[in-house]
Amino acid sequence: MISDFHPAWLPAEAFRALGSRRVQVRGDGLLLDTVRTEVAAACRRFGGAPADTGLCDVSFAVSSQADLAPEEFTYARGEGVTVVRAADPAGLLHGFFHVVRQGERAFAGDFDERHAPALPIRLVSHWDNVDVHPVMGQVERGYAGGSIFWSAGRLREDLSRVRAYARLLAAGGINAVAINNVNVHEAEAHLLTDRIGEVAALAEQFRAYGIRVHLSVDFAAPITLGGLPTADPLDERVRAWWAQATQAVYARIPDFGGYVVKADSEGQPGPSAYARSHADGANLLAEALAPFGGVVHWRAFVYNHRQDWRDRSTDRARAAYDHFTPLDGRFAPNVILQVKHGPMDFQVREPVSPLLGAMPSTPVAVEVQATQEYTGQQRHVCYLGPMWSEVLRFPFGRPVAGLVQGMVTVANVGDDPFWTGHPLAQANLYAAARLGWNPALDPLALLDEWIALTFPGHDPALREALRAIMDESWQAYERYTAPLGVGFMVRPGHHYGPDVDGYEYTPWGTYHFADRDGIGVDRTRATGTGFTGQYPSPWRDLYESLADCPDELLLFFHHVPYAHVLRNGATVVQHIYDTHFAGVERVEAMILRWQQVSGLVDEAVAARINERLAQQLRSAEEWRDQVNTYFYRKSGVPDARGRRIY
Ligand code: GCU
Repeated sequence: MISDFHPAWLPAEAFRALGSRRVQVRGDGLLLDTVRTEVAAACRRFGGAPADTGLCDVSFAVSSQADLAPEEFTYARGEGVTVVRAADPAGLLHGFFHVVRQGERAFAGDFDERHAPALPIRLVSHWDNVDVHPVMGQVERGYAGGSIFWSAGRLREDLSRVRAYARLLAAGGINAVAINNVNVHEAEAHLLTDRIGEVAALAEQFRAYGIRVHLSVDFAAPITLGGLPTADPLDERVRAWWAQATQAVYARIPDFGGYVVKADSEGQPGPSAYARSHADGANLLAEALAPFGGVVHWRAFVYNHRQDWRDRSTDRARAAYDHFTPLDGRFAPNVILQVKHGPMDFQVREPVSPLLGAMPSTPVAVEVQATQEYTGQQRHVCYLGPMWSEVLRFPFGRPVAGLVQGMVTVANVGDDPFWTGHPLAQANLYAAARLGWNPALDPLALLDEWIALTFPGHDPALREALRAIMDESWQAYERYTAPLGVGFMVRPGHHYGPDVDGYEYTPWGTYHFADRDGIGVDRTRATGTGFTGQYPSPWRDLYESLADCPDELLLFFHHVPYAHVLRNGATVVQHIYDTHFAGVERVEAMILRWQQVSGLVDEAVAARINERLAQQLRSAEEWRDQVNTYFYRKSGVPDARGRRIY
């Protein structure tokens, strides 16, 4: 480590190829100054030279003539010179980091390419609180220490780490950040008004890397901050309050991105208190932001969290679609409907949310969770690139990536020296950022890219081992946790570790319905909640059919007997036993592989990884034994291979 935090995917070494050459930068403005500063530092370190006049090996230039979209850049090489051009400074910054990522490849052969982001909105959402929340801590669902923005209830004085973070995000292609938790508590509500100076100070750090700051706001702010008797979106006083508050924000932060809103969800206030719709609520804020070019990220994570478990007709999976599809076409153009990738809540396996394919007249962003709330909490290795890639490629006629305008990633970083608790969890943030830029990227290739940048110049054995450990780590986690898409089975509240019936009789709508005969949730149209009907063809029929439903989602869509034979030939209960033993074996293999190469990395990194892998193994064994024992006791069916079940 070169300072008190790890350099992640931008170690000095990543700049060797560029920094050992003659580099020209042409254009003016803040982002161009950023590129110049980067170039000067790289050249100082590696013996190259900024070459604003005369011969150069690589040239970066903003040229207004170029027929290029916002953020797009061209990347070409001929006659020994690599040339990056963009129509705007943001495009040039992306082009700069592209050259860094390419290393020596940027200076070999001839090429002529254009690169543009597939999704214009690429936002990282922090669930950070200013104050330490009594239950959730400072970062809600944060597994990497406190906030990098706030400490002891105040903005940190030293924001150099925020600057380093902005640089990392920009290097992955991120262009927006939301700095506070979607659950807006009292102190954080004030960021919008009397604490806006703190937001402005953060915006200054992010601005240098082309990243616009967004705020999560309290829908009831006209009451809680403005002293009005109502927050009714159709009330003139409320509209005037938001207009004035928003204007004041832009007076301090001219490039402010907009608001993120969790309304009428898990106890947060919203328009339903006034019998108004989500469109009324979102459009209220959109109207205030529109004159300044801002957007509202309105979250679709709306469901009844006070359900009676006896009530079999209410299905949480249906909720987002049922709430929002009737409103398609009624949102202002600067509203982005932010939809979680699955219909439930970031489980290790869920079908793709049908809402993503059902809002043709509304701008939509897909939300993914880099913070590993339900996927091992950054104590377990669980590389999620492949999961997100599946979501982005999922075909609703067109792939999800072609239907949405944005990708929002719930952040996994904190003030931990490795940023993410588990050093290998950095790969999740990297992959999410890069997939937002180009959803067609192969997640395994992205993993290799991350490894090569983060562990430069290292032994190929290390790279191979990291690849072997991380590739399919998502499937490994799935094997030893909740089976066949049924979800949850985690300890309520903190969501780490097994608790098969933990949520079974709670109000959260997250049930598995296991009894002595079988398990799973009947979401069919024929006999269940009808959720399958929210999908277009062919999915509505594929998921409806017991014979055709993919194994990994079987228990999400169907309630079946334990003796039901899966497409893979095993019975459900035998599959549960087999995968739970196999999942733990996979973790044991990961550890053996790691032990062979751990001496090749920085000692502090190795020590942290060792400690986390040991925790992962203990936790995986606990999962295996609790899940297997539960189903053995429920079903009475012994393991066909006679392994130890308690
Ligand atoms: C999950 C998570 C909460 C979070 C919520 C959300 O339910 O456990 O902490 O607030 O998602 O996305 O709003």
